[in-house]
Amino acid sequence: MPDTLATSQANAARDPARGHETIVVLDFGSQFSMLIARRVRELNTYCELLPFDTPAERIAGMDVRGIILSGGPSSVYDPDAPLAPQWVFESGLPILGICYGMQLMAHQLGGKVVPGTEREYGPAKVQASAGSPLLQGLPAEFDVWMSHGDRLESVPPGFESIASSGNSPYAVMADLTRRYYGLQFHPEVVHTPKGKEILQNFVAEICGCAGSWTAGNFIEETIDAIRAQVGTGRVICGLSGGVDSAVAAALVHRAIGDQLTCIFVDNGLLRAGEAEQVVETFLKHMQINLVHVEAEEQFLQQLAEVTNPETKRVRIGNTFIRIFEREARRIEDARFLCQGTLYPDVIESASHGAGSVKIKTHHNVGGLPPDMKLGLVEPLRFLFKDEVRRIGEALGLPEEMVWRHPFPGPGLAIRVIGEVTREKLDLLRGADRIVMDEIRKAGLYRDIWQSFAVLTDTKSVGVMGDFRTYGYACAIRAVVADDAMTADWARLPHELLAKMSNRIVNEVHGINRVVYDITSKPPGTIEWE
Ligand code: XMP
Repeated sequence: MPDTLATSQANAARDPARGHETIVVLDFGSQFSMLIARRVRELNTYCELLPFDTPAERIAGMDVRGIILSGGPSSVYDPDAPLAPQWVFESGLPILGICYGMQLMAHQLGGKVVPGTEREYGPAKVQASAGSPLLQGLPAEFDVWMSHGDRLESVPPGFESIASSGNSPYAVMADLTRRYYGLQFHPEVVHTPKGKEILQNFVAEICGCAGSWTAGNFIEETIDAIRAQVGTGRVICGLSGGVDSAVAAALVHRAIGDQLTCIFVDNGLLRAGEAEQVVETFLKHMQINLVHVEAEEQFLQQLAEVTNPETKRVRIGNTFIRIFEREARRIEDARFLCQGTLYPDVIESASHGAGSVKIKTHHNVGGLPPDMKLGLVEPLRFLFKDEVRRIGEALGLPEEMVWRHPFPGPGLAIRVIGEVTREKLDLLRGADRIVMDEIRKAGLYRDIWQSFAVLTDTKSVGVMGDFRTYGYACAIRAVVADDAMTADWARLPHELLAKMSNRIVNEVHGINRVVYDITSKPPGTIEWE
């Protein structure tokens, strides 16, 4: 889209996050950096994750109240060790260094860091040794999660140790005058049970943030921003059935009502009942202008005889764009495209060179031809998934939609192994419905990241009553995760697995065997294709 850059700059100017007290996390590459930002947001304070070498100009105009230096894999002694930019220490703002962030503070401010003889990784106990605003209200001893190689040998001038651990006299250091703090452990992970209090002390007590980043405020300010951006223009929005596009559309609808038209391309690759729910919610319940395109036939034609997972993805993506474009062109005076882009997508697309190898092609709504010249409305571009869910709830979207597990764009096509046919899709939908139903009944839906059935392309022999059967083997996949980068297979109770297996074999004619996938990611992926 030719005017994407201009549009995103315009977005930044109207950015509803801009008016809020902000904590900036400078990212030194820790796997937990994004989690720090999420934890701060949970304290109702807006937080941005920025690259470690962000120039001072980037934060000009923002109401920054404090800076957190994240952990990272480097050692301050590496020849190309990333350093905190000088402006950080000249800003007069409170600073919290976490792990590598703490070592950096020590290293750059005149303390001494020495290479550790061995890595300290895992649980530890910390004893507070002096009063401080950071550890205020915490017990004298508390559990933490350590993960570091180098360690501090002496603190910089102005600092003192305010807590120690068995392995280090400097588990927490502080310069109370400058409001600089360093933690040798990770307050953001669940294994540091008092971590939330520590972050709360930093954000509220030390940085003085009042906590104005709430769902209610966000909705109000975003509605104003959307109205200012689109004026009297018409906005189109693709609905996928997923939570992001649903919340984005609901928000835009709240702002501009009938100026919004949603396009729902039903590709025939959705789970049982999902297409109906989209229509029910948006058309009947919310009375949003909805173009419902029933395109199962076209998608199945494109998928005929295709077995390669990447070819499936490309064909589905292209077919979607063709249909979406055709429908979008029919909407007179469409000037904007609403997308459910989230903050992690924004961070990832802004990240510099640290990208990983492409494992699977992921398709998001978008990629319309350049001659459509649509401005982008991305009301969720500052939000994490959990925040999107809170907004969805506040907007009154149905619970099943708001808490829906992530679902891949190519849908069930990548859960039918091998060639996709309507018959196989129906078998899969039957099994998948039972898996979901039993997970919900067991009260496990929200504890699980994703759960679903996969229809393998293997047939096996079975016996039912007096008959020999020859049917498909179906796999159940259920994973727990914080994000989709890593995942572990869910330890579902055996009774639950037994119930699913019984029901699938009895109720879905054509499947006669059920297996449970016990592979974590890595080395497996969440989806089978
Ligand atoms: P994998 O299988 O790579 O999946 O471990 C990670 C997450 O991404 C989802 N996924 C997709 N989402 N288009 C999507 O929009 C895709 O082609 C696609 N492939 C996988 C998957 O469901 C999981 O949440």
